[in-house]
Amino acid sequence: MARSSHPAHDLHEGLHRFEDAATGLHGVIAIHSTAVGPAAGGCRFWSYANPQMMMNDALRLAQGMSFKNALAGLPLGGGKAVIQRPAGDFDRRRLFAAFGRAVQSLGGDYVTAEDVGTGVADMEVVRGETRFVAGLPPQGGRPGGDPSPWTALGVKLAIEAAIRWRHGRGLDGATVAVQGLGAVGRDLCRRLHAEGARLVVADVDAGRVAEVARLYGARAVAAEAIHAVPADVFAPCALGGVLGERVVERLGSAIVCGAANNQLASVHDGQRLLDRGVTYCPDYVVNAGGIINVAAEYLGQGAAEVEAAVAAIPVRLQQLLARADRERTPAGAVADQMARQMIADAGRRNAA
Ligand code: NAI
Repeated sequence: MARSSHPAHDLHEGLHRFEDAATGLHGVIAIHSTAVGPAAGGCRFWSYANPQMMMNDALRLAQGMSFKNALAGLPLGGGKAVIQRPAGDFDRRRLFAAFGRAVQSLGGDYVTAEDVGTGVADMEVVRGETRFVAGLPPQGGRPGGDPSPWTALGVKLAIEAAIRWRHGRGLDGATVAVQGLGAVGRDLCRRLHAEGARLVVADVDAGRVAEVARLYGARAVAAEAIHAVPADVFAPCALGGVLGERVVERLGSAIVCGAANNQLASVHDGQRLLDRGVTYCPDYVVNAGGIINVAAEYLGQGAAEVEAAVAAIPVRLQQLLARADRERTPAGAVADQMARQMIADAGRRNAA
């Protein structure tokens, strides 16, 4: 297995490339920071158009994890693994075992878990090679397993907090436009429906749309139109980069609050949202429920600690929105400033 690292990269401690001809593994582990603790973040399995795009995704996502973990108050740094999905046939077990050996070779600087394209079964294979992995089946009532329900709970609480902050009312009767009905989006719809919210939904998978429409009385719209639907909240729960200039111009909601990582297509889009009077709830603050559960599993904590930490998400969000409002600064920029400060403080403490 070949391993290379580029620790000189701007804002990252390390970038490790892994290739294993025997299994077709071709991937990258980016470590943004270990100042607060071991770099934790999931493993994405995806078809990238080229190696540069794969590397950029790893770097972007690793920094996002650093910021997310810091603001969630976790004793963890930020990292991310991305693996290129082989074009032809491949042995998934052998490929994830090779990935497990790659994680092990970093000696605990990076802790992996599920992300888009990977699941609990993959992490069990990884566990055969390294202990630096979470997202395994829960044991003895302890936190573990699929983190998506915790992510969905955190997003639901954040949506509720944002509506209350902006309009002074609750979820009952509010309309939420949910983009993406995967593990998080579906469970979010269930929770919103249970609290009396009206749902408008879209997914590229027609079966998922039909299921959510049937179960929760959701109104289905075309995937290209979901952001423009008149609603109280637009909840992006598919992939990142959704809030570009054209989408921001056509937004049908005054609040954006969803699970997807890296929702802003560029740094300018945070300002665009502010200029249009849209309350943007920073993605990594809102979607921290999953990593909170993963961290509790890895750190050996119990369900009560997970519940308390997830319940803190809406509190932190409201504080952040209030500060962004006072300072007339995009909420995402305020969150980034707070996270950078916390990481720098931890770095100084470590050096002292
Ligand atoms: P998933 O892969 O289970 O679901 C994604 C869904 O989005 C799929 O149903 C897919 O068909 C749909 N989709 C893809 N492109 C679309 C488009 N253009 N328009 C509408 N729908 C589209 O992923 P999951 O786990 O639900 O995660 C959703 C997002 O939340 C991702 O961005 C992920 O990185 C983020 N996230 C997930 C966490 C988790 O605990 N699963 C934790 C934190 C963030």
